[in-house]
Formats: sequence, C-alpha cells, structure tokens
Amino acid sequence: MSRPEWYYDDLRQIGTDFADAAQVAAYDRNQGRKVAEDQVLAAALGLGAGQTLLDLGCGTGQFACEAAKVAGRVIAVDVSQAMLDFAAGRAKKAKLANLRFLRAGFLTYEHAGEPVDVAVSKFALHHLPDFWKAVALSRLHGWIRPGGLLFLRDVVFSFPDSDYRRGIENWIARVAKPNGDGFSAADFATHVREEHSTFRWILEGLIERAGFRILGCDAEDDAYADFRCLKI
Ligand SMILES: C[S@@+](CC[C@H](N)C(=O)[O-])C[C@H]1O[C@@H](n2cnc3c(N)ncnc32)[C@H](O)[C@@H]1O
Repeated sequence: MSRPEWYYDDLRQIGTDFADAAQVAAYDRNQGRKVAEDQVLAAALGLGAGQTLLDLGCGTGQFACEAAKVAGRVIAVDVSQAMLDFAAGRAKKAKLANLRFLRAGFLTYEHAGEPVDVAVSKFALHHLPDFWKAVALSRLHGWIRPGGLLFLRDVVFSFPDSDYRRGIENWIARVAKPNGDGFSAADFATHVREEHSTFRWILEGLIERAGFRILGCDAEDDAYADFRCLKI
C-alpha cells in the first residue's frame, strides 16, 4: 500500500537493534522472563481453540508459542526478520503448526480476514513516539472484534512527571544487570534516551481515545504496566 511521505517508517529499528543477530540470540536471557509467565498470561487471556490471537512485536516468539498451545491460530508480527526467523524456529521445534509469522510493524501490518479475538503486545509499543502510538492503537482497534481484548505490557512510567530523574535512575538501579548477565545500565539508558516509553497517564489517554475501555491496569512498580482493555 502506498503511504504519504510523512508516514513514520516503523520497519526501522530505534534504540536497541533487534534486527541484529547477537541481540536476538541473547534476548531471552537478557529479558529474563520465564516461559511460565507467558503460560500464565495465555491462560489469563482465556484463549481457546476457536480463537485467533495477534501478537504485535512478537520478538523471539516465547509468548506466541505458548499462546499457540491454547489458541486456534496465532498471527505473530515483528519488524525484525531475525526475530521472526528465531520465533519460527522455536515454533517448529515445538511442533506448532498454527502460527503465521509476518514481517511488519504497528503502522505497516495490514490485517486480512476476520477480526481477531485477542491482540497482545509486550514491550513493543514504546518503539513509537506518542503521536504514532495513537495511530497504532487506533489501527489495533480496527483489527479486534467488538468485545475482544487487547493486552498491552510495556515500560510505562508512573512516578510524578517532575520527579523523572529520580524515577528513571531508581528504575535503572533496580533492573540493570552486570555486563553479560542481562540488559545493562547502558542498555536501559539507551531505552530512555532513544526509545519512547511514556507516562502512564499519557498511555491511558491514548488507549481510551482509540476506543478501548481499560478493564484493569497492573503495575509491578512505577516503571512497568500491564493494561487489559476491551474493544468497544
Ligand atoms: C523488547 S522486544 C519484545 C519482544 C516480545 N514481545 C517480548 O515480550 O519478549 C521488542 C520487539 O518489538 C519489535 N519492534 C520494534 N519496533 C516495532 C514496530 N514498530 N512494530 C512492531 N514491532 C516492533 C522489535 O523488533 C522487537 O522484536
């Protein structure tokens, strides 16, 4: 589809380069999130054999594969071909045949066929500036059936705006690992400087304006948030 000159190029990586083979190979260890967490999420979303799930920014496919064990069909989308190749290899190893992998982003994916029952996006929406997050959420809204769910998990800040310096520095001190053991302080600094994580009050407004009702927001601390949203 042709796009205007001013349209954001979301196939381009910003911040950490997830098109880089070394980043992809190290991602699951760096991220440190266990398969069990993705199994809990897949169960909590109430996925069933008759349902289709869309995973935007699927990365190495850990969640997409767990979801494919309970959902009828999974569409796994990412801008990084290296991530998609890794995720497809994981699905093949697990003998899962109900996943489709597509190279596209929030702003370039074109949904064909019936709207999906559930869309999930974990740690990916922050790659877009806030204006384009609004566009992405409104596009997502169009791909989900009425009454369907959107689950968003991301780095989202809920410390007071004016206290940003303390909030960011405390977050990095809490989560950064020594070099080689996971994402480092330098990686988190790159995240804040070059990616587009935003405040919770901004993201809440964007989600609601896109046409979702926020059913719940769980925040493990003031730097992360999970949003469960209903398409109305
Ligand atoms: C931090 S990883 C998260 C991967 C996975 N969802 C997880 O929870 O582990 C971010 C992923 O988003 C992808 N990504 C970056 N920009 C994107 C965009 N505009 N649209 C979709 N995915 C994007 C990256 O290639 C990367 O695989």
